[in-house]
Amino acid sequence: MTTLAIIGGTGLTQLSDLTLIKREQLDTPYGSPSAEFVTGELNGIPVIFLARHGNPHRLAPHQINYRANIWGLKQLGVKQIISVAAVGGITSDMAPAHIAIPDQIIDYSYGRLHTFFDDEAVQHIDFTYPYSQKLRSRLISAAAKANIKISPLGTYGCTQGPRLETAAEIQRMERDGCDLVGMTGMPEAALAKELDMDYAAISVVANWAAGKTEGEITMEDIERHLHKGMANTAELLKAFVS
Ligand code: HPA
Repeated sequence: MTTLAIIGGTGLTQLSDLTLIKREQLDTPYGSPSAEFVTGELNGIPVIFLARHGNPHRLAPHQINYRANIWGLKQLGVKQIISVAAVGGITSDMAPAHIAIPDQIIDYSYGRLHTFFDDEAVQHIDFTYPYSQKLRSRLISAAAKANIKISPLGTYGCTQGPRLETAAEIQRMERDGCDLVGMTGMPEAALAKELDMDYAAISVVANWAAGKTEGEITMEDIERHLHKGMANTAELLKAFVS
């Protein structure tokens, strides 16, 4: 059985349907992961869960030790990672509470420790297709099975945060081809690829991105939409493992 991990983002610091087996605190050559690794069963299938921002939520996107998180999962024998993360919606289909399974990434983040190939002979991994097609297809089929409407494609733009974007930044990202904007997709996806792990993302739209609606983006709006999107995500994950 291939070991599956789920990395939960804002709005998913715990997986309530997970039957707990054990919790492990790990240290890695890259420092401490965000939280304990929680091993459990989802619909009878073993799953390792990690809260990306810590549990309780304490790490901003630029403070997350992405290398320790991915290294820790590799150490535990994980072969497949599903990342769950809140995003802003840029293009017209990406309304709040909607779910997308992105197929491409543009990275606008900076100053993050973004590779395992720092100390040794450099390796240039292929990143043409940043997400595992196999995992994406399985997620898309699971959504159909669970009757959850999703977007099966999308380009995810990763910003540095923790602030949200300006309206002009979002216009530029849209011209670049981004459908979604988030703050944690990179370097996570690339690090998983460096360690030869399958990685796919569930993007849960929390809000229209900056300038896409009148007025400012409020945390209350984000939380309300995330609540609904994360409930669908939990159903999607259950369908994925069954
Ligand atoms: N921008 C960046 N990251 C986000 C957003 C956003 O509007 N919403 C949720 N995560």
